[in-house]
Amino acid sequence: NRIEVLLATQKPFAQSAIQQMEEALGAANIKLEQLEAYADRKELMERLKNVDALIVRSDIIDKEIIKAGNQLKVIVRAGSGFDNIDIKAAHDAGVIVMNTPGQNANAVAELVFGMLLWGARNGFNGVSGFELKGKTLGIHAFGNVGQNVARIAKGFGMNVLAYDPYTPSVVIYRSGVEPVSCAEELYSKSDIISIHLPYTPLTKKVINRELLQNLPEKAILINTARKEVIHEEDLIAMMKERPQMKYLTDIAPAHPAEFLEMGNRYFATPKKMGAQTLEANSNAAVAAARELINYFESGNVDFKVN
Ligand code: 3PG
Repeated sequence: NRIEVLLATQKPFAQSAIQQMEEALGAANIKLEQLEAYADRKELMERLKNVDALIVRSDIIDKEIIKAGNQLKVIVRAGSGFDNIDIKAAHDAGVIVMNTPGQNANAVAELVFGMLLWGARNGFNGVSGFELKGKTLGIHAFGNVGQNVARIAKGFGMNVLAYDPYTPSVVIYRSGVEPVSCAEELYSKSDIISIHLPYTPLTKKVINRELLQNLPEKAILINTARKEVIHEEDLIAMMKERPQMKYLTDIAPAHPAEFLEMGNRYFATPKKMGAQTLEANSNAAVAAARELINYFESGNVDFKVN
């Protein structure tokens, strides 16, 4: 029987990226089915029947959905963060979960600077803003995205610091970035913070008052990671106490009402846009297809996360 893969994305990839994925899989005699912008989970569960592998983006894949895949062997998260997938339920059901780390990294890093320039120039409202050159940027977590942010920041002439408990200081040094020893130090030494933490049980709401109070009065906080790493109530309280502080995010807060009252001290993309470029879509789509081909042809599980 021909292997069947379902690409289920509530937020669709660019058409040409899907075509590349289809061609790669087709060359390996794997059939690609598509389910885009689906209305509800039931539709997804229905389409999962008799499918061997599933490719998703931020789509929620829980225990019940995994169970509906009666023939499911692999789920590939075409992207980096896999907090949308119940990896334990997948493991218990004998389903392998993989991701495609790094494929979206440059796209996300470029968006950081799109939002940062908007913030530095007061939402382009005509009031005098500030330049990035000479300012200090603190990168909170130095993975693929953080490293791309550092590269671009240096082009702007910024001083770049990074904190990452999982990356040896020497690796940070070698990329021309100054490592600091803890998050508190990073927040106290930076004019601007760019957040690149994955969302895990360990990072839930870690950006709280205790940490935020180290920031200078006029700090800009940029979030292109996940909303769950922010303690929203604490951030709102800090922004009320510090009338020049700004929060710019690619992931709308769970409770945006009070942020929306802050004028151009707050900005959120209407939809999560970090990875929405033709290049990132193609990179992630082709990487997902390759991982599946390698798995089905030779059992390769290099990108397994569960
Ligand atoms: C990622 O984890 O790779 C990014 O957050 C992109 O997510 P998306 O596929 O929902 O755009």
